[in-house]
Amino acid sequence: MMKILVTGGAGYIGSHTLIEIINAGFEPVVYDNLSNSSPVAIERVEQIVGQNINFIKGDILDKELLRKVFAEHTFFAVIHFAGLKAVGESVSKPLKYYQNNVIGTINVLEVMKEFGVKNFIFSSSATVYGNPRSLPIYESFERSCTNPYGQSKLMIEYVLEDVCRAQVDFNAISLRYFNPIGADESGTIGEDPSDIPNNLMPYISQVAVGRLEKLSVFGDDYDTIDGTGVRDYIHVVDLAKGHLKALEYLANHKQTGFLPINLGTGHGTSVLQLVNAFIKTTGQKVPYVIAPRRVGDIASCYANADKAKTLLGWVAQYDIERMCIDTWRWQSNNPNGYN
Ligand code: NAD
Ligand code: WQD
Repeated sequence: MMKILVTGGAGYIGSHTLIEIINAGFEPVVYDNLSNSSPVAIERVEQIVGQNINFIKGDILDKELLRKVFAEHTFFAVIHFAGLKAVGESVSKPLKYYQNNVIGTINVLEVMKEFGVKNFIFSSSATVYGNPRSLPIYESFERSCTNPYGQSKLMIEYVLEDVCRAQVDFNAISLRYFNPIGADESGTIGEDPSDIPNNLMPYISQVAVGRLEKLSVFGDDYDTIDGTGVRDYIHVVDLAKGHLKALEYLANHKQTGFLPINLGTGHGTSVLQLVNAFIKTTGQKVPYVIAPRRVGDIASCYANADKAKTLLGWVAQYDIERMCIDTWRWQSNNPNGYN
């Protein structure tokens, strides 16, 4: 069985990915400092897959512990989810983000090098495209960022490109996620923001469950179908399957170099379209008000996802309705998340 180090595996996307790779016969070792996740997520995944998971509570800033883990296990690849992701916080605490995300990733890469591990799958983001010159967004578009979080993702991509150039047998697939929402169909794992949600879908579902009073729609005067912001929402289970496809690609290709790949559906949905789909599929009330634009937001963002299809054989399967139903199953069964 191929062992995979999954940093950040207790988090939202990591926990869903564990299910896919375990069911496909890979053996994950999860390494997470639980700074933004709960150990209960791992227990729930164990229940879903019916087996125990090797979990290590550890920080990617702790290079000695990383070395110990690499000495104990022979990894085929690292799937690197660990990172901080709150855009607003990154603006007020840039050093925290560069330290954790950039230095942390360099630590992982250094220890991989010491132990001869050559396959890396990175959680990149559509944020590296900044404000795209046209839509849909192709992987070849130029990159730019407007906040330290995005900048940390971009810097890591540059590091990976250089490492791949310097070491020809090092492979790095940079998966650029669009907007992940939804949850496993069991309703036992899902997104559980530790604070008031920054992102739209967890905000909607917390309003619906009564934890928050009303949604603020940030701007209704964009040049979009109804004036509200358009994004490419993708079901987290589709995203998880994309990681499995990337692992399988690495298992079948000796030399990929730096490979950036969009994981999106290729379709844009506006804020109000998502709110209305949620109301319609769940029967819940979601009161909202129109508020000013949020600083740093762009009007529209959606992927061209052809590269993932051609190279990985991956296409997103789930539609917006399913994303809403699955989000609500998780939120209504777990009104306070994992607590
Ligand atoms: P998440 O916060 O749920 O998961 C990240 C995990 O990393 C958490 O469990 C956290 O405890 C862990 N972690 C953070 N710093 C760590 C450190 N120093 N050492 C060890 N573990 C650490 O977030 P997520 O939504 O699952 O995102 C996973 C990755 O995907 C992140 O790198 C994020 O930037 C990236 N990403 C997320 C989105 C999104 O909208 N959710 C979009 C694009 C990219
Ligand atoms: C979506 C739309 C908002 C909240 C962010 C990061 C990005 C990536 C994914 C990690 C926008 C609107 C939101 C609310 C609203 N993360 N909105 N009211 O901004 O596309 O991307 O998460 O890599 O880097 O920037 O996602 O969910 O915050 O916003 O009207 O309370 O919903 O204006 O149009 P975004 P989001």
